[in-house]
Amino acid sequence: MSNDATVTAADIARLAGVGRAAVSNWRRRHDDFPLPVGGTATSPTFSLGQIELWLRDQGKLADPPMRERVWQTLRQVAAGDVELSEVMSFAGAFLLALHADPDRLRDLADAPDDRAGAELADAVRAHTDLLPDPFDAPAHVPLARALTGLADELGTADAFEFLRTRYLEHHSRRVYITPEPVVRLMLDFCTEPPGTVLDPACGTGAFLTVAQDVYKDVRALLGQEIDETTARMTAVQLALRGAPAEVRPGDSLRDDAFAGRDADLVVTNPPFNDRNWGYEELTGDPRWEYGLPPRMESELAWLQHGLAHAAPGGLVVVLIPPAVANRRSGRRIRAELLRRGALRAVVGLPAGAVPNMAVAVSVWVLRRPAPGDQPADDVLMADMSGEPDTYHKVAVDAWRRYLDGRPQRGAATVVRIIDLLDDEVDLNPARHLPQRAAPAAGGGFARGAIASRPPPPNCPGPSPRCRS
Ligand SMILES: C[S@@+](CC[C@H](N)C(=O)[O-])C[C@H]1O[C@@H](n2cnc3c(N)ncnc32)[C@H](O)[C@@H]1O
Repeated sequence: MSNDATVTAADIARLAGVGRAAVSNWRRRHDDFPLPVGGTATSPTFSLGQIELWLRDQGKLADPPMRERVWQTLRQVAAGDVELSEVMSFAGAFLLALHADPDRLRDLADAPDDRAGAELADAVRAHTDLLPDPFDAPAHVPLARALTGLADELGTADAFEFLRTRYLEHHSRRVYITPEPVVRLMLDFCTEPPGTVLDPACGTGAFLTVAQDVYKDVRALLGQEIDETTARMTAVQLALRGAPAEVRPGDSLRDDAFAGRDADLVVTNPPFNDRNWGYEELTGDPRWEYGLPPRMESELAWLQHGLAHAAPGGLVVVLIPPAVANRRSGRRIRAELLRRGALRAVVGLPAGAVPNMAVAVSVWVLRRPAPGDQPADDVLMADMSGEPDTYHKVAVDAWRRYLDGRPQRGAATVVRIIDLLDDEVDLNPARHLPQRAAPAAGGGFARGAIASRPPPPNCPGPSPRCRS
């Protein structure tokens, strides 16, 4: 079995500076084109060493751009026993150290191999605790040199962004990234700039990265992510962008890295339908203020984790699958969230707004009640299923109207909490919009046909806000 780094047809095209079709032609026409060493029939992989030899013999090896050479160097380092994710961690840590102390790191990259190999790890560690352990410095010296060249060309932040994007392409099946339009919509529910933002399932940092753009004066961006490599990469990416970020690896539900820390905005797209979220271990956890989440209702654990971290008056904005709106097992917690005025809006997104989801998901907007607040007596229900192109504008408009006590338009309505507290506590927005209710044959949707009522003079009670 080959212990060499492997490349895909797309990588070969990049190496040779040609399109994918040319690589397919070469495979068909040249008997000596290297045979695949792995992958599948439709997506084969080849030995990088054999491919480079072949391209060189044929005079087809383009002088690849610097970034391609660095990526291939990184792949070479990862060809032996070292995981690609570990080498990515090193690349990130090295670029952070280079950013912090360019003179020392450049000096080392230029030094002879033995000195560079001996001092590299300590020099990087002096600036970051993100290096993988154990760490083999000598093998990484060529990569450190290549990274220094790439940083000269692109700057440290863009150099890492390039490598991170390439890494994610290679791991696309394992990494989930919330689409930016959905991220922006969720952040726009926070109408006052927050001082602190928390994403307890931060992945590659989709929410925290956009939050840094949207809230220029944000003081802290907190993220937790169960996958250690992803957490490291997100920490590097945000630090290189100058974000005031703290990203911690670990399980937010079982081992909360930010216990005792409040955020003005908690925003997240947590894992859905997670049967192993910690039900047994966490039975008596003080976060379950609204009730112990049933074993099959991990989403109700994430919602309450968010509320436990929200400052009084702070917002919690969470992406939630539709079944959570009306599953029998979650009825008591839904009722409690309503009764105590924590749930303020459920906004159903159009199908396809979040790809790879068989069903259209919703955004739930909650607010941690502040001491002395009168619990709200109504909640906003908005159904964006008919607004595939305009859902951002329509949903934000509905939310602002709700906060101001102005009448709603077609896709949204304000529902009295007392009308929701029945046997089902159905929070599916479509059930509460008259124009979307099914004909009441057999009374099926009779309760769904609650008319949009004009807001009372002081609607909607305590206004959701994010403290600055
Ligand atoms: C749906 S993805 C969202 C990722 C990211 N927030 C985004 O929007 O692109 C959920 C993320 O939560 C992480 N995760 C799953 N269980 C977790 C847990 N118990 N604690 C922290 N992170 C977790 C997954 O690894 C994944 O990165």
